[in-house]
Amino acid sequence: MIRYTLDIDVPIPMSDGTKLMTNIWRPETEHPVPVLLVRSPYGAKDNSEFYGRPNALMFLEAGYALAFQDCRGTSRSEGDFIHQGHEAKDGAETVEWLAQQSWCNDTVGMYSGSYQGMVQWQAASAGVPSLKAIAPMVTSMDFYQAPWYSPGGAFSLECTLSWSLAMAIAQCTRQLSSGNGDASDLRSLSELMADKDKWLTSTPVAEQPLIIKYVPWLAEVFAHPCRDEFWQTAPIEKVSNVSTPALSIAGWYDLFLGESLAAYQAVQRNGAAPGDANQHLVIGPWSHGPLGLNGIFPDRQFGVAGIQNSSELASLHIAFFDRWLKGNPRALEDVAPVRIFVMGIDEWRNEQAWPLLDTRYVDYHLDSEGGARTSEGNGVLSICPPTNEAADRYLYDPRRPVPTLGGHILNVTGFNGPADQTPVEHRDDVLIYSSPPLERILEVTGPVSADLYASSDASDTDFTAKLVDVFPDGRAILLCEGIQRMRYRHSLNQPELMSRGEIYQIHIDMTATSNVFLPGHRIRVEISSSNFPRYDRNSNTGGDIFHEHLVDMIPAVNQIHHGPKNPSRLVLPIIDRT
Ligand code: BEZ
Repeated sequence: MIRYTLDIDVPIPMSDGTKLMTNIWRPETEHPVPVLLVRSPYGAKDNSEFYGRPNALMFLEAGYALAFQDCRGTSRSEGDFIHQGHEAKDGAETVEWLAQQSWCNDTVGMYSGSYQGMVQWQAASAGVPSLKAIAPMVTSMDFYQAPWYSPGGAFSLECTLSWSLAMAIAQCTRQLSSGNGDASDLRSLSELMADKDKWLTSTPVAEQPLIIKYVPWLAEVFAHPCRDEFWQTAPIEKVSNVSTPALSIAGWYDLFLGESLAAYQAVQRNGAAPGDANQHLVIGPWSHGPLGLNGIFPDRQFGVAGIQNSSELASLHIAFFDRWLKGNPRALEDVAPVRIFVMGIDEWRNEQAWPLLDTRYVDYHLDSEGGARTSEGNGVLSICPPTNEAADRYLYDPRRPVPTLGGHILNVTGFNGPADQTPVEHRDDVLIYSSPPLERILEVTGPVSADLYASSDASDTDFTAKLVDVFPDGRAILLCEGIQRMRYRHSLNQPELMSRGEIYQIHIDMTATSNVFLPGHRIRVEISSSNFPRYDRNSNTGGDIFHEHLVDMIPAVNQIHHGPKNPSRLVLPIIDRT
């Protein structure tokens, strides 16, 4: 039987006098215990997610106290909410307050995902001594790269606007419940939410007065499309302070996949203890949000092993915190540094490092007779470099962008994840390059990228790339994807427009995957110039995209060149253990 004490709305004072409301659960025991802190902007009291993943009662049973705190300016806490604006200091001060309580043994850990994961990196990079371990799940250390923009500089429109709208509704409701809100604003915001697909396609993108009224921070995001000094407060910039043991948890279809991996690698390479053996990484077949955490999607299911609760994540948390908060040296003895779910064979596997130590990067060359448009075209993907020079050209019209089908989007109530891409493969603005059906299995595990030779008759445009596993029944299941905005091809901080017609070599970061292509399957890369609304559409004008109307946007003729002089290729991390 577990007996515990629950104190609701404990006002933890910050150094500027602001009180942050915190619910504290303590197991009934004579001895001081370690405490696990979750800091959330979503209402610590109301968010049942906390009690489910990992289960809070399980932590109590294992002898941990729990503290669920509302971030500054959210739910019952005092102050004003600014996205990540106060989290480093508030996190550090909360950790120290908890550590000083008589019932606490001076050791604090943190866990949970997404925003609640970002606050963990904030506290860890603030260098707070009592913070002994963190378990950040599906989250980021570098907020430009994810969730608000992307490694190639395109704006993550679906994620940014949906999240900001949800936060605006929460802020408006909070004001109403304290007696000074505006009910008609809440009605208008709810109408946007109800007609989200239409609202997400409206232009100009930055004209969001009602959301900005409640979430002024969104105006700042629009004002900083480059990775300039505004973004330099992110924890990645202070990674050299970080030595906190971390259990990083990522999903192959999560919008934070790239940043979860980047955080793990950044601490390993540039943290306070480079090569840090105290970092663990787990990557499952999951997308963002409760539905995607089960690895069950309409077009692809990963079986019982893919369900997060059955993947021993809860007991892994306990083992990890037992090691670092209770000092049990044997708790992690049987736990590998890296644990990945290998799709295709749909099995978990232990590894020693990320990327895997035996990764061999292999070029898969793009080739065609100049007709790679659509899945009916003659685009080929081959390990043999082409002998002829050729180019595939298509018209990219931002007024009819390629629609996003699943993938690494927020859409927590709808379909994200491994969607069948065949509906967009019939479009004449999608280039398709496929391998022949494979005779043997081929494992691709690690970072994926495309090095392309691209030109356009516009002064700015985008190029997108998707890696797809084509099943024998024709389904084209998305694995990973990326986008490069051409003005940012040299630098995210110093945009440079293109010269019309000039061929540029570009690198598209497609994040990563782990997939065994089975015999009879084909490897496919799809190239185009939009993936909307996951990313905003490039207007092709070279102008200020956020403030342009649909009528301002112009079509562009874009080309992918391939051959000996322009060796466009997909670079795959191949693992061969046969
Ligand atoms: C989240 O907490 O789920 C979240 C936060 C920022 C952007 C997207 C998602």
